[in-house]
Amino acid sequence: MEVIIKPDSDAVSKEAAQLFEDQLEKKPTSVLGLATGSTPLGLYRELVIMTHAELLDFSRAITFNLDEYVGLSGEHPMSYGSFMREHLFAHINLPAENIHVPDGLAADIAQHCADYEEAIRRCGGIDLQLLGIGSDGHIGFNEPSSSLSSRTRLKTLTPRTIADNARFFGSAAEVPRHVITMGVGTIMEARRVVVLATGASKASAVAAMVEGPIRASVPASILQMHQKCVLIIDEAAAGQLERADYYRWVYDHKPEWQRA
Ligand code: GLP
Repeated sequence: MEVIIKPDSDAVSKEAAQLFEDQLEKKPTSVLGLATGSTPLGLYRELVIMTHAELLDFSRAITFNLDEYVGLSGEHPMSYGSFMREHLFAHINLPAENIHVPDGLAADIAQHCADYEEAIRRCGGIDLQLLGIGSDGHIGFNEPSSSLSSRTRLKTLTPRTIADNARFFGSAAEVPRHVITMGVGTIMEARRVVVLATGASKASAVAAMVEGPIRASVPASILQMHQKCVLIIDEAAAGQLERADYYRWVYDHKPEWQRA
């Protein structure tokens, strides 16, 4: 795993935006896996600015979002569908028919999850998957104890994630208990993965993900097995990494041909 430590969240967003630019330049028809939460907001702002400046073109891209709350329609203001429209989709030239977000109101959730997996396969698989990390080490909504080879399915949130996400709702009581999420195995099949984390509240999850053992208790730790995973974090999120100096040294001495 490549670990890139940036001074602050702005620099994290700019570095990640560069990866998206490179990806779309190399393959305009890229299949992008997208994430929600506060962490990618700066990146989405960058992508919007770059699209308006005609540095980015989403017209042939396809997107798949990681997850959605069960019981919320894509129009509900707290749904991840609404989140994506508000922060990204409404401001870029991505055709509506190329956007995929799990349907929180699907009548047959198991079938919907199987169809979601099939749709990813039909599009040729995910080229670049964006991830944040939960304070408990979850990716997507794959909570601790998730199978490390899981596929898109229904999950029950932990009380900790409900408390973490209560800030988007009126209170913890209003946070749905169930979600649909791409599985850990689904995420691991992406050709390239970029994980973003900022702030001291993510420092212990980041350390467990990068330097701890691979275990279902920290689903993000399976990314140690991914051949093309880059973690972009700020100084605060890097606060508990034992080898932070080495990761900085690697980045500073990266051969020119290896830079994006
Ligand atoms: C939710 C999302 C995750 C996200 C996590 C962290 O649980 N399902 O995809 O990574 O929140 O969110 P934040 O970036 O707001 O800390």
